[in-house]
Order: sequence, then structure tokens, then C-alpha cells
Amino acid sequence: MRRPGPRARSGSFVRARGLLVVAIAAIAAVPLLGVLVLRGDDAQAGTTASPGFARDVAPIIRDKCAGCHRLGGIAPFPFRTARDVASRAPLIASVVRERRMPPWPPGPRSPRLVGQEQRTLTTRQRDTILRWIADGARLDARSVGRPATAIPKPRAGETVRTLTLPVPYRPRSAGGATDDYRCFLVDPKLTEDVFVTAARIDPDQAAVVHHVILFKVPPASVADAQRLDAKAPGPGWSCFGGSGIPEPDGRGLGGGLDDAPWITAWAPGWGSDRFREGTGVPLAAGSRVVMQVHYNLLNGRTPDRSSAVLTTVPATAGLRPLQTMLLPAPVELPCAKGESGPLCDRTAALFDLVRKYGQGAGLAPAGLLLLCGKNAATPRAGAVTTCDRRIGAPTTMQAVGGHMHLLGRSIRVELNPGTPRARVLLDLPAWDFHWQAIYQLAGPVQAGPGDVVRVTCRHDATLRRLAEPASARTPRYTMWGEGTTDEMCLGILQVTRP
Ligand code: HEC
Repeated sequence: MRRPGPRARSGSFVRARGLLVVAIAAIAAVPLLGVLVLRGDDAQAGTTASPGFARDVAPIIRDKCAGCHRLGGIAPFPFRTARDVASRAPLIASVVRERRMPPWPPGPRSPRLVGQEQRTLTTRQRDTILRWIADGARLDARSVGRPATAIPKPRAGETVRTLTLPVPYRPRSAGGATDDYRCFLVDPKLTEDVFVTAARIDPDQAAVVHHVILFKVPPASVADAQRLDAKAPGPGWSCFGGSGIPEPDGRGLGGGLDDAPWITAWAPGWGSDRFREGTGVPLAAGSRVVMQVHYNLLNGRTPDRSSAVLTTVPATAGLRPLQTMLLPAPVELPCAKGESGPLCDRTAALFDLVRKYGQGAGLAPAGLLLLCGKNAATPRAGAVTTCDRRIGAPTTMQAVGGHMHLLGRSIRVELNPGTPRARVLLDLPAWDFHWQAIYQLAGPVQAGPGDVVRVTCRHDATLRRLAEPASARTPRYTMWGEGTTDEMCLGILQVTRP
């Protein structure tokens, strides 16, 4: 059903004002009538309220699409002129109908998340775009208008720290891959302990920077990070799932799970990540930051010198420290039907992990099975994996994320599943490695002793046929690991603990 448009409403308003007003309005309407006649069947618009481009559609494209779809932006084509939009009307209709654009991975089972309204289309906006296209995608303007830049201003008392790549880096491909994951070690030059209150990425070559994850490097790990950096030619080192820096002082899996070194994850067009008022990520004097940048080589290999911008306040500001809780679940993913090869055998695949990454990596699969109360001697293989963790102390959940690699299908983080107090904290029903972020809950969630958080992942070994480079397509029994051909199932919770 179509709503009565503004013109219909203003008509009844005019009648109520008496004859004189009607006469004036009639004279004023002559040029308008001319326009309506010229626009042919658009003359119906007055009664059926067909959406207009300039009035209804352009503002939506400008606010919700053109931040990425601009010249030099991450998206493959710009929405700058009205023709840019009209000429792609059928494709736009399909991505909008299927909710593929704008990209917003959380599904309808997720709770309300900060930024959702700015990033997604409302039902009404979706309807407006689809009706405009169904009615012929007619134009009454030339331009879409300039998108607003979503760069937030630092607040009073905040120091802005810009972390720039030491030298420009030319993204490169390993064995024909179309993505390059590179970790850069940058120095925020902290002479005192601080809290990070917001983090943002300023991509230099916005067309190639697909996403960025920031990790803290505590003083005890700086030497390890510098070794990695020195060993690899050029600025930074190649890294895939994480930073590749070993846990400090040999803390095994489990040790670092309650306070892990994440700062934030960022994707283009998603603005900045300002942590909740009164909270911040603590960063000790002498810490470094790893900027993991995912370059999309399909958009070129222009040398890039992106920067991360952190706003900090001194530790004396007494903010509540944001800590990152990691919720890993074991991955025991057998080869898909029809796949075969020596690495489809679990033991052979385990030896391969040890060969590539050392003894520690070989212990991770068994460690995770034990951590999650599963049988480590004869593990059950399957596409779905879960892990429950008991919350030991009062905890306020502020933000939540999920992490898998290329064979991930979906991931969910929930509190107290199967009880009357059950609630979903994040549901990503169609996992996309290329759109990673940490989502701030619109309302913080309190939990405490007796509560359980569960992470559930579904993997799909058939996705391997799409993996890059081609060498990543070798069939294998897939377990937890850092590499492109390994997998993860990781819930990420940013919490404060009073
Ligand atoms: C956060 C950045 C971002 C925003 C916001 C965004 N897009 Fe995209 N868009 C992309 C990227 C990147 C691609 C390339 C495909 C991919 O990586 O998913 C794309 C691809 C597309 C495509 C081509 C799809 C295909 O199958 O070839 C269309 C059409 C599109 N976007 C329309 C829109 C519309 C309409 C909006 C706003 C309602 C929008 N996009 C908002 C980043 C964005």
C-alpha cells in the first residue's frame, strides 16, 4: 500500500485556509503543473507518492552508500552522479532486497548495536529505493551530493596520537592470492600509562584497505614483535588471523583468555570506534601497537601509508578498563564429501601444524578440547562447534565480536543459552572474513558468577574451493591455527569488571 505523499497532504491543508489562499496557490501551481505534464506519467506522483530521486533517494545513497562508493573508495564503483545510481538500478535493487548492501553482518537475532541506525537501511528507506527503481529509476537531479565525513572530533582532555606506517607499503600477493594481510608495528610513544578512548583508521589508499585490526603489544612482547618485523623483508610482516606475536611469558591457551591484546577492529565506512563513555582500553607506557591491515589486491597495489588515530587520556582519568575476553572453541573440521588427500587424516594434519608453526601450535587443538570439556583423546569431528565458559566474577559486557577464517559460515555468542535468562549477544548468520568488526552493545549486559557464555560456530569445508591462493585449496582436516588454511572459532567480548 502506498502512503499519501506530502503533496496530497498539503492539498487538504490549502483547502482549509479559504478561497484567497486557494487562488494564490493556484497561481503558484501553474509552473508546477507544467512540470508535472512534462514529466508524463510522473504526473501520477501527486496522488501515488512515487519516490523522487532528489527528494527521497539521493539523501539515502549519500548517507548510507556513498561513504564507501566514492572515487578512490573501497567499493568497486562510485555513486557520485545521479546517473551512477540510475545506470545500476537493477543491481542496486537486488543488493538492497537481499540486504547485502550496506554491509552489516549482524543478523536479526542480534541485540541492538551502536551505529546500526547509521549503517543500515530502515524498512522505509529500503522500500523507497525499491519503489523508485520499480517506477523506472527516473532522475530529477544530476548529483547525489557529498557524503558527510564521519570523523569525530577529539573531546576535551584527549590527546590525539597518529600511528603511521613507517614507510609506504606496496601490497603484494603470496602465490596469486587476491588479499594481503600485513602487520605493522607502530609506536604510540607512550611515556605514561593511558586509556584509549577511541580508535579510527585513516586509510591512505582507501580503495585497497579493506579492514584493520589493532592489537596492543605490551612492553614484555615488544622484543618478540621487533624480531618478527626484522625477519620479514620490507615494512611489517605477513600475518593472517592474528598478529602472530607469541603470548608473553609462555602463557598457554587459557592464560591469556581473560585479558587479551585486542584494541579494536575497523572496516571502511563504519566511522570510528569510540568506546563507551567512562571506559577505555588501558595501554601501558612503552607499549607498541600492531596494525593488521587487510589489503584487497583486486583494487590495485598502490603503495599505502595508512594511519591509525587513537585518542587517549592519562591513566589518572580513572576510566573503567576495557578488557578483552576471548572465547575460543575447538575446530575439528573433517574434509568435505568428495575431498581426499593425505592431510584429510587428523594425525597427519596435526604434524603439518607442528611443522609449520612449532610445538605450541600442535598442542592448541587438544588444549581447546580440554578447555571446553570435550574428549581430547578421540575428538568428535563436525562442522558445528561450541564452547561454554562460566563467568567467575561480576562482568559488564560492553562490546562483542566474532572471528573465524575463510571456512566460516556463521558465529553466535550468547549468554545463558537454554535457560529463561538466555540472550543473544551477537549473531553473524553469514560470516564474511572481509567485514570484521567489534560491535558495541546499545545497552551493556550485566553478568556474574553462575552465568555462562557460549560461542557457536559453523564451518563449511566446501568453501575451501574458493580460497586464495590456490595452494590453500589442498584438502585437509582443519583445526585451530593462525594460517590461511587453518580455522578459528573465537567469540570476543569487551568487558569491564567493576
Ligand atoms: C561499508 C562500505 C560500503 C557501503 C556503506 C555500501 N557498499 Fe556497496 N559495496 C561495497 C564493496 C566493498 C563492494 C564490493 C563487493 C564486496 O566486497 O562485498 C560493494 C558492492 C556493491 C554493489 C555490487 C554488488 C555486486 O554483486 O556486484 C552494489 C550494487 C552496491 N554495492 C550497492 C550499494 C548500495 C545501494 C549501498 C547503500 C544502500 C551500498 N552499496 C553501501 C562497500 C559498501
